[in-house]
Amino acid sequence: MILVVGANGMLGQDLIALLGDRGHGVDIADIDITSAESVFKVIGALKPEVVINCAAYTDVDGCESDAETAMAVNGEGVAYLAMACRDIGALLVQVSTDYVFDGGKGTPYVEDDAPCPLSVYGESKLAGEMNAAFSPEHLIVRTQWLYGLHGKNFVETMLRLGAEKSELTVVDDQIGSPTSTVDLSQAIIALIDSGCRGVYHAANSEYCSWNDFAKAIFEESGLQVAVKPMTTTELNRPARRPLYSTLECSKLNAETGYHPQTWRNALREYLKIREK
Ligand SMILES: NC(=O)c1ccc[n+]([C@@H]2O[C@H](COP(=O)([O-])OP(=O)(O)OC[C@H]3O[C@@H](n4cnc5c(N)ncnc54)[C@H](OP(=O)(O)O)[C@@H]3O)[C@@H](O)[C@H]2O)c1
Repeated sequence: MILVVGANGMLGQDLIALLGDRGHGVDIADIDITSAESVFKVIGALKPEVVINCAAYTDVDGCESDAETAMAVNGEGVAYLAMACRDIGALLVQVSTDYVFDGGKGTPYVEDDAPCPLSVYGESKLAGEMNAAFSPEHLIVRTQWLYGLHGKNFVETMLRLGAEKSELTVVDDQIGSPTSTVDLSQAIIALIDSGCRGVYHAANSEYCSWNDFAKAIFEESGLQVAVKPMTTTELNRPARRPLYSTLECSKLNAETGYHPQTWRNALREYLKIREK
């Protein structure tokens, strides 16, 4: 059995749907990953072969003012899960982020590039990556710019704002790959089924700025909205973000045969599905 922790979240819900009979989901009502007692009790009782950890404190700006919670959930929580997995010989799959990088490299990040987080969220997720190693069997999957049917995300925000306004201003100096949680779920399942261990990058292919992404959302959904540029400095959010954090995903492709589609195709698919 594959246990998805954080199964009510945006990624967790798509993973559960794709895993079908192989999957079992738990979330905060069943397991609190910040409690060693809760983690050992649930993992010890269910004895899964694989644990996919999608539970996280994902409010990037909120983490800046609550570092304690960020470290408890994104750092220490992973240590408890890893130790519980070690005890039963299970594989721990830890979902991580491009925000472990500082964005200064200028070309796509490979798995061996040195992390250097700019934010509390990035630091806490890096702690989680390191703590995953308490389980000898572990897989770290770094991804970025997620959107899916079951959570707050940039696509839904743009569609909501685009229905109300004819002009929006969106940052144009952060570059990455918007990634569908369905495609990421497929990548994670491919990594598990191929017996992969260690660190992998998984995102939709090709890259853009948030501004390009907003324009594409409006083009694909037929909304007439003018999208003006602004800089990250002008936006002035509490957490610093990497400016260029595209993830090189060729290792995923080479070792599983799974090649994520382009972000633009994934966006078209998403918009079609959400209309149904
Ligand atoms: N979203 C992105 O753009 C993005 C980008 C890169 C990487 N990631 C990573 O991808 C993973 C999935 O992200 P997501 O956007 O699907 O997250 P999400 O929608 O915020 O889901 C996280 C889930 O974890 C639960 N949770 C929080 N604290 C918990 C705890 N102490 N014990 C058990 N469950 C807890 C949350 O419950 P509540 O809702 O009740 O708090 C929620 O159901 C995370 O590891 C995230 O860091 C996300």
